[in-house]
Amino acid sequence: MKIIMLGAPGAGKGTQANMIADKYGIPHISTGDIFRSNLQAGTGLGMKAKSYMEQGLLVPDDLTCDLVMDRIDQGDCAKGFILDGFPRTIPQAECLTQALAKTRESMDYAINIDLADEIIIERISGRRACLNCGATYHIVNIPPKVEGMCDHCGCPIVLRDDDKPETMRKRLDVYHEQTQPLVDYYEKQGILRNVDGSLPMMEIFSEIMKVLES
Ligand code: AP5
Ligand code: MG
Repeated sequence: MKIIMLGAPGAGKGTQANMIADKYGIPHISTGDIFRSNLQAGTGLGMKAKSYMEQGLLVPDDLTCDLVMDRIDQGDCAKGFILDGFPRTIPQAECLTQALAKTRESMDYAINIDLADEIIIERISGRRACLNCGATYHIVNIPPKVEGMCDHCGCPIVLRDDDKPETMRKRLDVYHEQTQPLVDYYEKQGILRNVDGSLPMMEIFSEIMKVLES
């Protein structure tokens, strides 16, 4: 199963992608998580992505596409994968479509988590993320078992640098301008499925399960 998670920053892509990946035993590929772990480790890729991420802008398409194409070529992706945060522009979507077409493959579903900007801003201000394993929490809605610590790896959970209110607003503008057109792109390919992102986390998951198991 090859799935794309679409949706604005903070819509809940990562939260749902983690659960889907666990359920089907397929890799969860989050470009944001890959950039953040490279940034933390101080790699060349992390340094290249840093200034874009800090400003709430997108990392250039060529860099991002190369990264994802290499990742989906790895053996653990043979049975499928979930892309979270990629593609984010029409050129990235074209790159993915063409790369898969070489082996007569295509994506199965693009799941769009639909959520109003006002709710997104409320959720992001309460989000805490584990920079070690990528798990995501919310201080009120989805708290960790022990305050300030990741349930999975025990590392501290923090407010992401790009979750500051000014950067968050920029990310939403960039989303509406560059990423939202992908909703039409995948609708035309016949693989778009919309889910209501304002529902509780487990209800969204069961809506997604209905889509994937229909
Ligand atoms: P990325 O890490 O992908 O961030 P994003 O798209 O902005 O999305 P988020 O991770 O902020 O939100 P999410 O939808 O995963 O929501 P979450 O599940 O955490 O990208 C970061 C940056 O990297 C970009 O700005 C860009 O610079 C760069 N980048 C990445 N990919 C790129 C690409 N392809 N091209 C170019 N540049 C790229 O949920 C949000 C909060 O809500 C959490 O606190 C969660 O616990 C809570 N929550 C989730 N679901 C619910 C629910 N149902 N009810 C209540 N609370 C909920
Ligand atoms: Mg995320």
